[in-house]
Parts: sequence; C-alpha cells; structure tokens
Amino acid sequence: MTIGIGLLGLGTVGAGVAGILTTPQGRHPLVSELELRRVAVRDLSRPRPLDLPEAILSTDPEAVVDDPAVDIVVEVMGGLEPARSLILRAIEAGKPVVTANKAVIARYGDEIAAAAAAKGVYVLIEAAVGGGIPIIEPLKQSLGGNRIQRVSGIINGTTNYILSRMADEGAAYADVLADAQRLGYAEADPAADVEGGDAADKIAILAGLAYGGSVERTAIPTEGIHRLDGRDVNYADQLGYAVKLVASARCLGTDADGTVQLDVSVGPTLLPRDHPLAGVHGVNNAILVEGDPVGRVMFYGPGAGAGPTASAVVADILNIAGIREVAGAGGALDPLLAASRWRRCRLVDPGVSQHRNYLRLRTGDQPGVIGRIGSCFGDEGVSIRSIVQFDSSLDGGDAEIVVITHEVAEASFRRALAAIEALGDVTAVAACLRTL
Ligand code: NAP
Ligand code: HSE
Repeated sequence: MTIGIGLLGLGTVGAGVAGILTTPQGRHPLVSELELRRVAVRDLSRPRPLDLPEAILSTDPEAVVDDPAVDIVVEVMGGLEPARSLILRAIEAGKPVVTANKAVIARYGDEIAAAAAAKGVYVLIEAAVGGGIPIIEPLKQSLGGNRIQRVSGIINGTTNYILSRMADEGAAYADVLADAQRLGYAEADPAADVEGGDAADKIAILAGLAYGGSVERTAIPTEGIHRLDGRDVNYADQLGYAVKLVASARCLGTDADGTVQLDVSVGPTLLPRDHPLAGVHGVNNAILVEGDPVGRVMFYGPGAGAGPTASAVVADILNIAGIREVAGAGGALDPLLAASRWRRCRLVDPGVSQHRNYLRLRTGDQPGVIGRIGSCFGDEGVSIRSIVQFDSSLDGGDAEIVVITHEVAEASFRRALAAIEALGDVTAVAACLRTL
C-alpha cells in the first residue's frame, strides 16, 4: 500500500525531497512506497529543477493538507505563518508532520507538541537543525541516559561558509553571501543567518531536547557575524585561533524546584586551532555534545543545502511510514529494519574493490630502479600519485622507495606488486597499506 505525501513548498529543500521521492532506486525499499501526491507552491509559473505532473501542484496549501490522498504532511515552505497554522491543521486532521522549519519549532514547539500529543500523531524535525546531520534523534534517544553538560556547535551553514571563504580566499563578504544564497544555503531573508537568529532558533531546539524543557527563544543573547571586523579574524589567526559563529547551551546546575539553569548564547567565538570545532569549514556544521558519562561526542556534516536537508526530511518520512506499517502488524523493534524489507547483500570479490595504496619498498640503490617499478605499475594500468626515494642509509646500503597510487582495482595492484617483487632490485615489500 502506498503512502501519500503532501509537500508544502518546492524550493531548495522541497525540490530536494521531491527528487528523492521520485527516484527510489537504490534507496531504502520503503521509499518506493511513498508517493508524492500534492505539492503547494506560491507561484505555479516559477521554473522548477524537476518535472512533476502539473495536476499535483497547487497554490492552496490548506487543500494539500486536507486532501484525503495525503497521509503525511511535509512542511518545507519556511516562515512563521501560514506554516504554523498548516502544521496545526495537519495535526488536527490526525496527519503526521515532518518539518524543517526551525523558526516555527523554536517559537511554537510547545503548542505543536501539545497538539500532536493530544491527537497522538508524530511531528518529526530532524532537518530543522544541522541540515543532513542526524542530531535530533540521537539527542532524543541515543544519548538519553546522560546528564548533558553542554551542547555547542557551528549550526549555521551560511555563516560558516562565509567565514571560511573570507579566511581562506580573502573573498568579499557580499560576494560570498550571494554565493551562499545561490547555493541554497541561506534563509529566504539571509538576515536570519548573518545576524545569528537562525543559530539561536536551532540552539533553542537543541537545548530543549538536551535538557527536557523549552527555552525562551527571544531571551537568548544573540550576535551574528555581520558586525565582525576582519582585523579581529586576522589577529585571532595570528594568535592561533579560528573565529566561528558558535551557539552554545551549558547547564549551570539545577534549582531546588528542579528548574535547570542554562547559559545559552550565540556569537562569534575564538576557538583554539586544536578545538574540534575549529576544523569545521565551509557549509559544514558540527555539534559537540558533552555528557556524563559519555564524554564528548561530535556530530559533523553538511549543515545546509538541498541534498543534505532533504536527506534528513526523507529519513523522518520513512520513520513515520515504517511506524505506520508495522503498527498494524503487531509492531517491530525497529520499523525500518523489519525482516520483510531486509535486502539480500553480498560481498564482492576483493579483486574488484577499488582503493588507493601506500607501498614502501626496500631496493638496491641502483640507477633505473624507480623506472622499473613505474613500468610494473604502468603495465597493469595502475596510476601513480607520488613516488619518492628516501636516503639509502639502511643496512646494506638499501634505499627506501615509497609509492602512493591513485585509486585502482585491487587485482591490478596485486599483479603490479607481484611483478615488482620479482624485480632483482627489490629486496623487500616493507609495507603495503590502504590509503583514503
Ligand atoms: P525556499 O527555497 O524559499 O522555498 C520555499 C518554498 O515554499 C517555495 O517553493 C515557495 O513557493 C513555497 N511557499 C512559501 N510560502 C508559501 C505559501 N504561502 N503558499 C505556498 N507555497 C509557499 O526555502 P528553503 O530553503 O527550501 O527552506 C524551506 C524551509 O526549510 C525553511 O523553513 C528553512 O528554514 C528550512 N531549512 C532550509 C535549509 C536549506 O539549506 N535551505 C536547511 C534546513 C532547513 P515558490 O517556489 O512558488 O516561491
Ligand atoms: N540557512 C540555514 C543555514 C539553512 O545556513 O544553516 C540550514 O538550516
């Protein structure tokens, strides 16, 4: 039985979601049971990056929510209204909702959660924080046994992209912001990105999940990167720090009545270069969770853009679809791993696997030895990325030659290696390692 999807929005994220739903091959088998039945947009004449039947497009988002053919409502239109009302309307109709809208969840999360609980429907929000990074479900489930001391991170892709390109290339702020908009990273109004509001929405959501209670979104001290002076980035760099827009929620203790004291903020922050967040560049995000007893766990990946965000949205849809399916069949431990959907997998012959290789050879220090080794590789179509001879101070005057290959089939590499071992000059294959 197929499950009908109603999509509210066909912009950056909506088009990414539609792209996954309409190309199920090679994905989880349940994707082929999801059918995109209705799509709401603002402007029917706007060109779209994918072809959908005209009949499913509509400028009436309420009609999409109400359509009996729609089983799950996916809200990716953005903004506060009508997004909030449409989510509540779907819940009222008993339809589960998936949304990427952190602005709505950060402000109306309590209202939406209460409505969903009253109706017994799911509202899943994995795409609302961290783009393609799974962070919502891990915080809700996998880290549930911890006392969370701090959740901090780089959770706005646009600003991290801007800061990275300004630092690496000396690119101009306005140019890089325009690129971020073209690439689909920025919010419809990019002030939400550069002034820190988007990161504040996200840290409010993360803090709510980590500490089990809602946080007053408007009270979060928030500073963006729009007033950041390049000279400070430069001086920080000279002192061994990277400057990143960091959002942080730290637990300072619990009052006698059980109220958790939280220090939550968003702002440009100096990070020592060896800090795990300092190496997060470009559109990537990372969220560092510090808990007792787990210690430090970091979640890292692309934080914005069509593909990564759609990946998170579709994961939520699949979770809901899987739960719906198994509910009628007595339930299962994990709906997406139900035995009926278990695919057959087989390991390929190792000879066809492709990878790069590192090889350290001991050879006589003879003229032409590197050429002969190179020929053995060339005869098997193995392309060399680098080949270096180190000084011949080894016992017996042997030289060490280190080769790194491009990605090649294991079988070709092994044949080349056998030919190299047979060369009179090679005294030993001292090391052979795979290289990423
Ligand atoms: P977008 O490109 O601006 O797309 C918005 C879509 O919603 C457009 O298709 C627009 O229609 C439609 N829409 C807006 N208002 C509407 C209305 N009143 N009635 C019918 N359709 C309406 O936005 P986006 O980047 O995809 O972001 C969507 C949501 O995902 C936002 O909440 C955003 O914060 C969130 N998000 C975005 C990203 C990202 O990387 N972009 C990542 C995570 C979360 P038209 O196309 O006809 O204008
Ligand atoms: N505008 C947001 C960002 C999209 O740049 O991080 C992802 O939530």
